Amino acid sequence: MEITGLHKSFGDLEVLRGIDLSVSPGEVVCVIGPSGSGKSTLLRCVNLLEEPTSGTVTVAGAEVTDPDVDIDRVRRRIGMVFQSFNLFPHLTALGNLTIAQRRVLGRGKAEAEETARHNLRRVGLTDKESAYPAQLSGGQQQRVAIARALSMDPRLMLFDEPTSALDPELVGDVLAVMRTLADEGMTMLVVTHEMSFAREVADRVVFMDGGVIVEEGAPEQVVVEPRHARTRAFLARVLDPAAAELPAARDEESGTESGSGPGAQTAAETGPETGPETDARP
Ligand SMILES: Nc1ncnc2c1ncn2[C@@H]1O[C@H](COP(=O)(O)OP(=O)(O)OP(=O)(O)O)[C@@H](O)[C@H]1O
Ligand SMILES: [Mg+2]
Repeated sequence: MEITGLHKSFGDLEVLRGIDLSVSPGEVVCVIGPSGSGKSTLLRCVNLLEEPTSGTVTVAGAEVTDPDVDIDRVRRRIGMVFQSFNLFPHLTALGNLTIAQRRVLGRGKAEAEETARHNLRRVGLTDKESAYPAQLSGGQQQRVAIARALSMDPRLMLFDEPTSALDPELVGDVLAVMRTLADEGMTMLVVTHEMSFAREVADRVVFMDGGVIVEEGAPEQVVVEPRHARTRAFLARVLDPAAAELPAARDEESGTESGSGPGAQTAAETGPETGPETDARP
């Protein structure tokens, strides 16, 4: 994947201000950075869920930003896993894994089910193929979502804070699956607040702030010995949320300015432990 000179504005708001980033085959790149820095927008530009204002994005040799590109064809090669799992509630785990294979890739029932079972095994859910999403824990649902993406044989996997909506004790299972994928050589671009994952699994860590890449490098350099003050300030907040000062911009981003006391803001700031579902506590 290669991103060159990527800009994205929403009206007057310039969210991405010139991003250059490449991910080589088999490489795992983790993107970290404060809320509102443009991390999700960056991922969404890679598969054209957002249309870049300018710049180019190339995935597996196809230029996504070429006006003549067959975007559906490119999207099939890009697996995306979000914070929310987006499973079909009326379909079993197996059904969730086969539907897109059949509709989008035109696979027959037998082939789609074989691929689905293979990928349920990869995420450790062989015994859950007949379970409906409501019968699964959040961590299991997220692993089904990962298996669903894998069933499309992606060349690139994008993860946008895949564990931040999960209860803390369920995070490890999902990270373990992602670690296995990385070990198997999957090319991955991962937005995460899980610093230990970034340190141990990423080949490269990218710190974004204000729509630009402030610094990038080996995990031990960016996470352990950051060069820039902004990176250090961010890491201090993530690694010790209770000690953090809430930056003024955070209020605007999260919309918590009115009606929430300092307690709620601190909860929002902890990020990895609290998804949006839990932000609204009194
Ligand atoms: N569709 C949209 N229309 C207008 N503004 C948007 C849209 N999507 C994102 N933004 C704005 O772009 C900025 C970056 O948002 P983005 O979701 O990329 O941030 P992020 O780094 O992923 O933050 P978080 O860590 O909270 O997920 C924010 O100010 C956000 O409000
Ligand atoms: Mg985001």
